[in-house]
Amino acid sequence: MSIPTPTPHNTASAGEIARTVLMPGDPKRAAYVAKEFLTEARLVNDVRGVQGYTGLWKGREVSVMASGMGIPSIGIYAWELFEGYGVQRILRIGTAGALADDLQLKDIVLAQGACTDSYFMNQFKLPGSFAPLGSYRLLEAACAAAREKGLPVRVGNILSTDRFYSASPEDNDQWKRMGVLAVEMEAAGLYAVAAYHGKEALAICSISDHLYREGQLSPTERAESLDRMIELALEASTMDNG
Ligand code: HPA
Repeated sequence: MSIPTPTPHNTASAGEIARTVLMPGDPKRAAYVAKEFLTEARLVNDVRGVQGYTGLWKGREVSVMASGMGIPSIGIYAWELFEGYGVQRILRIGTAGALADDLQLKDIVLAQGACTDSYFMNQFKLPGSFAPLGSYRLLEAACAAAREKGLPVRVGNILSTDRFYSASPEDNDQWKRMGVLAVEMEAAGLYAVAAYHGKEALAICSISDHLYREGQLSPTERAESLDRMIELALEASTMDNG
């Protein structure tokens, strides 16, 4: 089955979106990536202000479009991109809150897998629990790009939760106990939708806060760490030739 384009949440025509899409949560960050990192970038979607741009990075076509916040939101956009627009791979670029003691603010985590407390997975009617995994090819490309840049990254499991604010914050202790590195709100949904469509996905997360420690980034530190993550995602997408 294929969704006709334009879709309910995307006014781009077929062919206006590249096979590789970078996906930040924040529409303003999508505009920032397009303006600061791509050449010949043009706006291809603006439904609900979820800006999508297509341009060139090192001569290769790439799109960047926001996902909004949470699994239901990224689920919509990823589904339409994979099924409607023939997108082959989505690299989420987002922030995450650290669980692991040895993670620091500004560290970069590549999500090899993403646990979730979301009900989203139930739609797949699996007789067990699905383990949402990032694309090995993209993970390998991101690791290689990080090595080339001399940029330290952590690879491991994250949690994609439905709750930013929680009446049961102690739940984090159990995930931390299982070696889960950090918490965000989208990757597991993206990985499941990619798996369902036979496509590739990877979440690259910049640590913006620590759930067990005080401290926050200055605006300059935040901007620098986001730039590093964006470059890493672009390099990873370039190194992947499929
Ligand atoms: N929880 C969920 N998502 C997040 C967090 C958090 O603490 N920090 C950044 N994204």
